[in-house]
Amino acid sequence: MSSSGKSIVDLAERRAFREDVITGLTSTPRTLPCKYFYDARGAELFQKICELPEYYITRTELGILRLRGAEIAAALGPDIELIGLGTGAGTKTRILLEELRSPRVYVPIDISKEQLANSSARFRKTFPSLEVLPVAADYLEPFELPLPRKISARSVVYFPGSTIGNFEPAAAVEFMERLVDLAGEGGGLLIGVDLQKDRRIIEAAYNDSAGVTAEFNLNLLDRINGEVGADFRLTDWEHRAVYNENAGRIEMYLVSGTDQTVHMEDRQFHFPAGEKILTEHSYKHTPEGFAVLARKAGFDFQKLWTDDARLFGVFYFTVA
Ligand code: AVI
Repeated sequence: MSSSGKSIVDLAERRAFREDVITGLTSTPRTLPCKYFYDARGAELFQKICELPEYYITRTELGILRLRGAEIAAALGPDIELIGLGTGAGTKTRILLEELRSPRVYVPIDISKEQLANSSARFRKTFPSLEVLPVAADYLEPFELPLPRKISARSVVYFPGSTIGNFEPAAAVEFMERLVDLAGEGGGLLIGVDLQKDRRIIEAAYNDSAGVTAEFNLNLLDRINGEVGADFRLTDWEHRAVYNENAGRIEMYLVSGTDQTVHMEDRQFHFPAGEKILTEHSYKHTPEGFAVLARKAGFDFQKLWTDDARLFGVFYFTVA
C-alpha cells in the first residue's frame, strides 16, 4: 500500500468518507473500508509495521528481490518501461532498477505528491539515463499514463507489498484487468503476493507484541472522530486479527469492549459489548490459486520466485 499520509481536505472526498463510514456502520456485519487506514498517522504506523520482527512480509519480499533480482530482471527483459503502483519510497523499485538492463522509463504512480517528488528526484539522480515520469494519482481510480520520449521494448507494471491481498478475489481480478490495459500488448506484471502458511506465523504478524498493528487499527476510529466528527472512545475498543483458514485470509476487527453508543452528527450507532467492526481482509494465496485469478484477468503465468520457507511470492505474468 502506498503510504499516502493523506488526510482529507477536499470537501467531496470528506463527504465520500462520511458516506462510507455510515454505510459500513449500518451494514451487517459492520465494516469500515481499509483504504482509510492511511492518513498521516496511519502511514507512519504502517511504516513501523513493516519493520516489526513478526511482520515477515516486507523483509521477505526485499530478501527475494535482493537474492533473485538478476533472474527477475532477465525475465522482464531489457529496455523496458516500468510502471510502479504504490511503490512508496521506492526501496524495492530501486533494487529492481539496479538489476534491470537499460531500463528506459519509470512511471511511479502515487497519491502522495510529496513522496512522489522526493522519490522521483532520487531516482533521476541515481539513474541519470532513466526517464522518470511521476503521476500523482490514486491508482484505484482511472488515470492517464504519460507519453514518454523514450521508446521501450515493453511495459511492465510493478505492484509490490502484497497490497493485492487487501482486495476481495473478485475485486482483485477486476483490478488486474485494469493492469492488463495498463501494461498493454506484450506487457507484463510483476507482483508481490503473500502466500498461505502456518496460521501461527500469519496471526503473529497481525497481532504484534509491541501493539503497533492494534494502534494502526484503532487509528481508524481516531481519524473518523477527527474528520467526520464521531465520538468513538478508543479505550472502549480492542484490536483483533484472526486467520480464517477456509477463506485464506486474515480478518481484522475492532471489537467493542463494552455496551456503548457512538454519535456522529445526528446519528447514533449502538454497539453491544463484543460486537465487531470488520476493518480489513488480508488474503494469503496459494501459487496455483493466484495464477488462476491472474489468468481470469488476462495474464499468463511466467515465473514465481519465493524465499526458502515459501512465505512470500514474487510472480511474473505476461499479457495473454
Ligand atoms: C498493505 N497491506 C498489504 C497490509 C497487509 O498486510 O495486509 C496492511 C496491514 N494490515 C495490518 N498490517 C498490515
